[in-house]
Amino acid sequence: MNIMTQPTNTAASRSGQLIAVGSGKGGVGKTWFSITLAHALARRGRKIMMFDGDLGLANADIQLGLMPKHDLNDVISGTCSIDEALMRIPEAGFCILPGRSGTASLANLPAETLDHVLAALRQSAGGFDDVIVDLGAGIDPSVRRMTAFADIVLLVITEDPSSLTDAYAVLKLLKADRPDTPLDVRIVVNQASSVAAGKRAYGSLARAARGFLRLDPPLLGLINRDERVSDAIRRQSLLLTRAPQSPAAADIETIARRLCRA
Ligand SMILES: Nc1ncnc2c1ncn2[C@@H]1O[C@H](COP(=O)(O)OP(=O)(O)OP(=O)(O)O)[C@@H](O)[C@H]1O
Ligand SMILES: [Mg+2]
Repeated sequence: MNIMTQPTNTAASRSGQLIAVGSGKGGVGKTWFSITLAHALARRGRKIMMFDGDLGLANADIQLGLMPKHDLNDVISGTCSIDEALMRIPEAGFCILPGRSGTASLANLPAETLDHVLAALRQSAGGFDDVIVDLGAGIDPSVRRMTAFADIVLLVITEDPSSLTDAYAVLKLLKADRPDTPLDVRIVVNQASSVAAGKRAYGSLARAARGFLRLDPPLLGLINRDERVSDAIRRQSLLLTRAPQSPAAADIETIARRLCRA
């Protein structure tokens, strides 16, 4: 069955905004940030879906220690609908649409199929307040398409200069892909060694974006480099449950609060 024609029992009653988490550069913390932000927003009473959009190298389910029954591949092959593939994580209070790792057909998804998936995702999103889309690294056509499809893009950077140039490349392509629609891009500095260093990293990116792209993406927040993050990931557990008093947990809560306000 075509994914577009699958029945959905989700009432389109919520705002269902699609929040894409991207970076260009790999390994900056997108997946951990997506999971932890989803958890923080759920704890604030919002109905959240997380979509593992790292096609071909999905790993959000691994970070969460899940054994999904269904995943995105099943949705694409027509075995089930998005709503049927959704897995609820009771201890986190949100749902996830898991991806699948190492599947060539997902890694090389034709544009037309991806557009069908995104249209079906948009429909399912109506049953949620926010859908957090964890993107893969790089700027391949699928990543660009999903980035341009989102309502809000959270661009994760670190102090690493290559993260800044990669994030700049994402901004440049996004502007080219969405020439006529206003862009809502906000910057998150992860693994900051200090507030001053994190703000400096943001400042460098913002200066280049203003000067060369005429874009002015605001700083959504800074997240400290915090060994409890790697510890939580290693133990496949949620940071906000495992180390709620940690600096990184406080930083995520601040970001969730700002997102709810805006
Ligand atoms: N705030 C932080 N403090 C300390 N370490 C962090 C922090 N955020 C992320 N990390 C480290 O970065 C690693 C990579 O995180 P993650 O897998 O979420 O990145 P990613 O951007 O999704 O990677 P990929 O591009 O491969 O999908 C984690 O295993 C963790 O050790
Ligand atoms: Mg990732």
